[in-house]
Amino acid sequence: MTPGPNTLDQLRERAAELDRTDPLAPYRERFHIPRHGDGEAAYLCGNSLGLAPRAARESVDQELVAWEQLGVEGHFKPERPWVSFHELFTDHLCRVVGGLPHEVVAMNTLTVNLHLMLTTFYRPLPRRFKVLVGHAAFPSDRYAVHSQVALRGLPPERAIVVARPRSGEYTLRTDDVIDFIDQYHSELHLVLMDGVNYYTGESIDIPAITAAAHRHGILAGFDLAHAAGNVPLALHDWDVDFAAWCSYKYLNGGPGCVAGCFVHERHGVRTDPLPRMAGWWGHDKASRFAMGPDFVPIPGAEGWQLSNPPLFSLAALLASLELFSEVGMDRLRAKSEALTGLLDAALRERFADSVEVITPADPARRGCQLSVRVKREARMTFTALLERGVVCDWREPDVIRLAPVPLYNRFADVARCLEVFADA
Ligand SMILES: Cc1ncc(COP(=O)(O)O)c(C=O)c1O
Repeated sequence: MTPGPNTLDQLRERAAELDRTDPLAPYRERFHIPRHGDGEAAYLCGNSLGLAPRAARESVDQELVAWEQLGVEGHFKPERPWVSFHELFTDHLCRVVGGLPHEVVAMNTLTVNLHLMLTTFYRPLPRRFKVLVGHAAFPSDRYAVHSQVALRGLPPERAIVVARPRSGEYTLRTDDVIDFIDQYHSELHLVLMDGVNYYTGESIDIPAITAAAHRHGILAGFDLAHAAGNVPLALHDWDVDFAAWCSYKYLNGGPGCVAGCFVHERHGVRTDPLPRMAGWWGHDKASRFAMGPDFVPIPGAEGWQLSNPPLFSLAALLASLELFSEVGMDRLRAKSEALTGLLDAALRERFADSVEVITPADPARRGCQLSVRVKREARMTFTALLERGVVCDWREPDVIRLAPVPLYNRFADVARCLEVFADA
């Protein structure tokens, strides 16, 4: 942690200086920034819903026009034919999550993709039937795992085991998770954890946990809802078995946007395809429209597609992913560490009496989000932030989540947030 500026004035000056020299500053113009009063809000809520890229409207319009002018022929005739529209995402997604082209696909929504992955990969054996999940898992993930276990006639209270932080700590230690896997490996079938946890903002060591699981023949899958577009990922090289993520947070695809999925090639490209829930959009492209009775999966992640995708949602997402490819995850991450580092240092140094940052201080163990436990008048502090145009969110019982997003936030947004903490 680098020491932060001492006074608010110094902090404002430092933020202004950082904004002046920020090579990514022009990208803010590529987004619609919500208003607050006569000015712009300090939007620190990209962990929940990313902002609208200005290019999204034109991209969606292009498909509306194609529909208006071509009707059903929009599937084949336009510049971006709908029948292969999802293929426009392959390169972008490869860059964001570090996958090979046949390992990634944009499809469905996150919880649906988790179910699809669990249906394929959770194949419990009589003695090896347990799923290791992380603490503070998002409810939808818990419901998904719980229901998948129950669907196989197993008791969830025995089949689901939770990796927890040590007493008095908020976040997991990688060594503890690995020790747990080593100790209970004979009963474990699958590890399913968050890349970045929605509540604490901690990022886990995906390669270390995957390697520990694989040493014992356990599969490793990850929910990357809060990791995709936030932290650098190298899913193929890390040997991850599968992953799923949503696209409406850091990927700015818009509410309920089409999600993403990764299946490692050793599972996706096989001569004996893995069992799955099948749909016609996952069927071999050359024979899909022959409408034959038997399902022949497309090799790779695309073979898990179910339905022809919602085009307007994909069109909006494409506008955002083009920005990600333009900027690159390395540059985004560099700015992200500086932005969040400024916020973190000031909160820990200036406000230690009144707040506790529960997100790890080590930049390698977090993305851009900080989860801040407010010791007194928590709700009032949250209300003050909103009233002064600092958009953030609240998690019970006393945590405010603040996520400065490097694509569109300024260092001045961080300074503005800290001013409210000072006054509150
Ligand atoms: C970690 C995590 N998992 C799952 C979900 C559920 O996503 P969806 O509603 O897109 O299925 C969310 C939503 O915010 C999430 O943050």
